[in-house]
Amino acid sequence: MSSPSAQPRPTRRIALRGDILHFLGDPGWGEDGGEAVRFEPDGWLLVEEGRVLGVQPADAPPDASWAREDWRGHLVLPGFIDPHVHAPQLDVIASFGATLLGWLERYTYAAEARFADPEQSQQGAERFLRALLSHGTTSAVVFATAHRHSSEALFTVAQRFGMRLITGKVLMDRNCPEELRDEVKQAERDCIESIERWHGVDRLAYAVTPRFAATSSPAQLSMAGRLLQAYERRAGGLYMQSHLAENRDEVQWIARLFPQSRSYLDVYAGAGLLTRRSVLAHGIWVDDADRALLARTGTSIAFSPSSNLFLGSGLFDWERARAACVQVAPASDVGGGTSLCQLRTLADGYKVLALQGQRMPAWAALHAVTRGAARTLELDHEIGHFGVGTIADVVVWRWADGAVQQRRQDMARSLHERLFAWMTLADEHNVAAVYVRGCKIPTDELWPAADADAQSHVFGDLGSAGLSSF
Ligand code: GUN
Ligand code: ZN
Repeated sequence: MSSPSAQPRPTRRIALRGDILHFLGDPGWGEDGGEAVRFEPDGWLLVEEGRVLGVQPADAPPDASWAREDWRGHLVLPGFIDPHVHAPQLDVIASFGATLLGWLERYTYAAEARFADPEQSQQGAERFLRALLSHGTTSAVVFATAHRHSSEALFTVAQRFGMRLITGKVLMDRNCPEELRDEVKQAERDCIESIERWHGVDRLAYAVTPRFAATSSPAQLSMAGRLLQAYERRAGGLYMQSHLAENRDEVQWIARLFPQSRSYLDVYAGAGLLTRRSVLAHGIWVDDADRALLARTGTSIAFSPSSNLFLGSGLFDWERARAACVQVAPASDVGGGTSLCQLRTLADGYKVLALQGQRMPAWAALHAVTRGAARTLELDHEIGHFGVGTIADVVVWRWADGAVQQRRQDMARSLHERLFAWMTLADEHNVAAVYVRGCKIPTDELWPAADADAQSHVFGDLGSAGLSSF
């Protein structure tokens, strides 16, 4: 059974005026993006029935049949794509003092267990997707929790926004708290029901989601692989998302759990989990044989620099991945990562690469979170650029928020310098407007007034003694 469409109806014809940037192809890693970069200063982005009709220069305005929105002096970009982020972990973003395995035990599992309550899942999905949009991201591959209703809530809310969203119930049947543990047969039934209901409906797709090799039994991993195979032909196939080789203790643990496997990646390969629609977060501690296997299967890596720095996991070597033809797209990995804004991911990514003597130009970076990410997800016909017929997911950004950003913009002598400074200094406060399928998301949906109730609850938990001691 499929859900009928519940997407908002886009305005018939709308023209956005501003500094329009997108990519016609891969700009490479040079400071000159060449023919792949399309920048139309003070241009017109024409959107008809939610799809891009074209980009025109300032001196070719649309006729009077077009509604116009004037974003002159703003940067107009395709909405960013986040290929790896955890919805329930907004509740534990920026938690102190742990590396991966301790962080999971101490903070993350407890936060996810609260989503056993369907009401919490629903509210969490609303909060998360609004936050994602307000940070300039319009499409994402998202971890829910082990509870089926948590992924159902994300699908329902994303459908209401008309968003491109890929998610699924987390699979975990061992080495985790009882409240989050599932069981192979029931998990399989849950996945199938959700796949039948959501996969390929509107802009939604299902991701088979074994958390990581440590929390799924070999039987559960095999079940996940069977699902991928069984639905190979349904709407281009299912996605698969998981984690890979993030932290050295984790890698050693996997080696003890799966002594027959050559490597961590090999565990997933053995279960039939590596496809062109597989996304593995991190992939820091891999070798050349792993890179060759990633490239051969078309599996992509979600490079998560903010998370890797925050949890002290290690430095991802993008140059080596590139040399081996591995597909890579930058990801926030919130709540290990500390911001939902992909500009912050890129700024951290630049620093992680700089520590290894690599330099990421603004072209490569901005391409990677738009058209490049879309390509890794086999969605570049739909999102990530303003090619004719793509869906108009658009974010309008302020070039500068505050005096420091303004001064830096004023001092820039080239477009690349301007964009690199922007990408490094800007964040979600620079977001001026968000359009999904050509529909502008109302301001009060994106930035709802602070929830006074939630605030008093937090202070109540701390207690007056705790507060006065600061
Ligand atoms: N490995 C297994 N689960 C997780 C998670 O929730 N976050 C991160 N960063 N790594 C993981
Ligand atoms: Zn993650």
